[in-house]
Amino acid sequence: MFITFEGGDGSGKSTQLQLLGKAFTASAIPHVMTREPGGSAGAEAIRKLLVSGEADAWDAETETLLFYAARLDHVNKLIKPALAEGKTVICDRFADSTLVYQGIGKGLSGEYIQALHRLTLGNFMPGLTIILDIDPAIGLKRAASRRGNETRFENMDIDFHHRIRAGFLSIAEREPQRCMVVDAGQGQETIHKTIVDIINNKLGIHV
Ligand code: TYD
Repeated sequence: MFITFEGGDGSGKSTQLQLLGKAFTASAIPHVMTREPGGSAGAEAIRKLLVSGEADAWDAETETLLFYAARLDHVNKLIKPALAEGKTVICDRFADSTLVYQGIGKGLSGEYIQALHRLTLGNFMPGLTIILDIDPAIGLKRAASRRGNETRFENMDIDFHHRIRAGFLSIAEREPQRCMVVDAGQGQETIHKTIVDIINNKLGIHV
């Protein structure tokens, strides 16, 4: 199973991914944890171009092509081989982030992004997507308290982040079979339990 995590900046994805990874390890379920942009050597090199620098460094179309170049490398070199070995792949962000950030956030057409997806990856998509939903005012405050220079998207204005939130929720409405929305305003342990329940139900396992 290919599982992705999506959500706005500061939605607590990293913490939840770590907790889930530990739970998989404790249950001896073979898995790989990865992230986008990045996850393979080539994609990590492209990541540097994308997440640092000025907020307006790239136009939406060029940025999308860079995200898809990174994604294609990541899928072919890491995700598909791991799935072929029978491992569960858990990925921090995937194609929904492009539809939402570059599409809804930056105004590139959803048709363009979906056509690019089909051209590069066909109908390859996650079997399950967990969307961590949080008020952007809270998410950005959390994100700001972290150190580092990967702030290019966090520096976009608050309206942008409200559109991002609405974008993820509308994907979840369109694809209720694949997407599960979790309230990320709750305590970490509560969120983790909710996610574990979703995964156990979906995969018919006991994490
Ligand atoms: P990430 O490292 O997941 O940051 P965070 O921990 O804040 O979620 O992602 C870096 C940024 O890249 C994030 O702000 C969202 C953005 N992004 C896109 O704009 N499009 C994409 O397709 C992906 C995968 C990420």
